[in-house]
Amino acid sequence: MRVTVFGTGYVGLVTGACLADVGHRVMCMDIDEGKIARLKAGEIPIHEPGLDTIVERNVKSGYLEFTTSHRDAVAHAELQIVAVGTPPDETGAADLQHVQAVAEAIGAHMTAPKIVVVKSTVPVGTCDKVAGRLAAVLGGRGSDIGFEVVSNPEFLKEGAAVGDFQRPDRIIVGTNSAHARAVMAELYEPFNRNHDRMVYMAPRSSELTKYAANAMLATRISFINEIANLAERLGADIEQVRRGIGSDPRIGYQFIYPGVGYGGSCFPKDVKALARTAREAGYGASLIEAVEAVNSRQKMKLFEKIAAHFGGEAALQGKTIAIWGLAFKPNTDDMREAPSRVLMEALWAAGAAVRAFDPVAGAETLRLYGERPGFELVQDKYSALDGADALAICTEWQQFRAPDFGEMALRLANRVIFDGRNLYSPERLRDDGWTYFSIGRAT
Ligand code: UGA
Repeated sequence: MRVTVFGTGYVGLVTGACLADVGHRVMCMDIDEGKIARLKAGEIPIHEPGLDTIVERNVKSGYLEFTTSHRDAVAHAELQIVAVGTPPDETGAADLQHVQAVAEAIGAHMTAPKIVVVKSTVPVGTCDKVAGRLAAVLGGRGSDIGFEVVSNPEFLKEGAAVGDFQRPDRIIVGTNSAHARAVMAELYEPFNRNHDRMVYMAPRSSELTKYAANAMLATRISFINEIANLAERLGADIEQVRRGIGSDPRIGYQFIYPGVGYGGSCFPKDVKALARTAREAGYGASLIEAVEAVNSRQKMKLFEKIAAHFGGEAALQGKTIAIWGLAFKPNTDDMREAPSRVLMEALWAAGAAVRAFDPVAGAETLRLYGERPGFELVQDKYSALDGADALAICTEWQQFRAPDFGEMALRLANRVIFDGRNLYSPERLRDDGWTYFSIGRAT
């Protein structure tokens, strides 16, 4: 089958590469010429495990092509997948200009019927808007050349996107057209051989499914963080409570890890966008708004603990805090909405300096904060501790789970750790002479 994918970000590139890998002939289009030139040369612009080999293999075999030409992209296939970005605009709403620009390009260049598949995360009603825009661009030609607009949201996790695409829990297809449904079934047939994962519904239900899934997961995180904050005040241990509730299969163990709040390009943006959509629909979504409020507060948690330990914000002037982990979660270099940023910015505002280490997000952090006084990036986790007054852990990279505490004690004279991911046993650290703060557990 032939497929065109617009947008070569996380979603577009993973989608294009994985579809080519099962034998579809895929053309990926992006307006960023530099990016397309790098992709053609085999350079992957993002850190996503496994993606580079799949791209390389399929570029070599000719199943995966890249272009900056709208004309070629539209001519390539009946199926036109839209995976361009929908960043929040200045009001917090999803900015649809890139999606609409693709719709216009498709309308301008199409000479045969098309199925336009909206994979970008878009507010409910966007498929209808895209259909409206296409019809307007096509004008009189519209009656001769038909089109369908289908919603097909993605559920990929950064760092595990390739596996998530190849082994999906479900494939949501929002369409009322029997033809589009048949074409989508054929597209995803290689992923449905052992078990049919297709779930068909109306486009608006499909669009809302995406937001509901992310809002539900974000709710679990804010819920456990709220219980953790309560546990601290009541003398309970959130890790024991987590195990206690997770054993109920209706609750389950996933997504109830307390921490420094959720980050990334999806949860924060989607939760805010859903709250906004609700307001626009005349409904105050109190639960969803609270999920966001709890998360913003949680991102300040480590800073508050650090300030309290040293005797108030003013006492942080001139202190140096080592930070382990900058990315919003392990196995990615993504710094978007990362809790580490809130911590670092609060530390700088209080006059403290930061010596930070992250296994892969260093370069991205330098791009963001390289010029900033009070910021130093180091190349290994132990050097971050040299001369620091305390260590703060923001991301649970594997290599932080069992560090050499002897080596750490030599470098970090104060022996103070603020652990935002509950990586260590408080008893063990206390017995070894550390002052150890974590989330939702007694100090
Ligand atoms: C998320 C969803 O998990 C995907 O299903 C979805 O497709 C994607 O958003 C999207 O909309 O594109 P992602 O943003 O890659 O994926 O990250 P997650 O692995 O879900 O983690 C999100 C944040 O929640 C991280 O900051 C993580 O540290 C935090 N988290 C997660 C917790 O604090 N506690 C948990 O128990 C789980």
